[in-house]
Amino acid sequence: MFKIGVMASGGGSNFKAIIDRIGEGDLEAQCKFLITNNGGCGAVHHAEEYGIPVYHISGKTHPDQAAYEAAMLEVLDKYDVDLLILAGYMKALPLCMLKRLPNRILNIHPSLLPKFGGKGFWGHHVHEAVLAAHETESGPTVHLVSEEIDRGRILAQTKVPVLPDDTPDTLAARVLVQEHALYWKTIKEYAESLGLH
Ligand code: GRF
Repeated sequence: MFKIGVMASGGGSNFKAIIDRIGEGDLEAQCKFLITNNGGCGAVHHAEEYGIPVYHISGKTHPDQAAYEAAMLEVLDKYDVDLLILAGYMKALPLCMLKRLPNRILNIHPSLLPKFGGKGFWGHHVHEAVLAAHETESGPTVHLVSEEIDRGRILAQTKVPVLPDDTPDTLAARVLVQEHALYWKTIKEYAESLGLH
């Protein structure tokens, strides 16, 4: 059984979808920790429900950059995870994390990358831009995390239609349903491709 750690900042619905699949036995992995930069977020609540250790590491808890990075690496070292899963983690990862886990960090983004990715494309901004560009389809992308934001190797995408009367909220909701279906399956397939058990 391979080991994952998750990082999240927000509601944590993707995190919950993954740990639910683990709980159901569909994803044969163990989730060893949640790292968050937002101690009061929904993801923390889901972690507590599942008894998953939570580490609150942010600029507030660790104002010194070196201490901040050391705290992150300490968690990685403690659990020696195979994959690190970003599930709505809203901060750029320090380079030391990318170096510690090359090709082992996954992220989910709510557009069909490479479209509508990179700096400034997060949350509702993504869906607003998709609508402003009159796209006819959108959908989530799971990709490897590299130094350039939202530019790592694409592992999987799901397309959904953009409807004429969509608002950013209705489009976001349609994409989010597909995020929940896509992320755990992609983690499973990627782990298999690496020979993780
Ligand atoms: C999702 O839309 C994901 O694509 C993006 O952040 C959002 C997180 O949502 N990276 P949730 O916290 O998992 O509900």
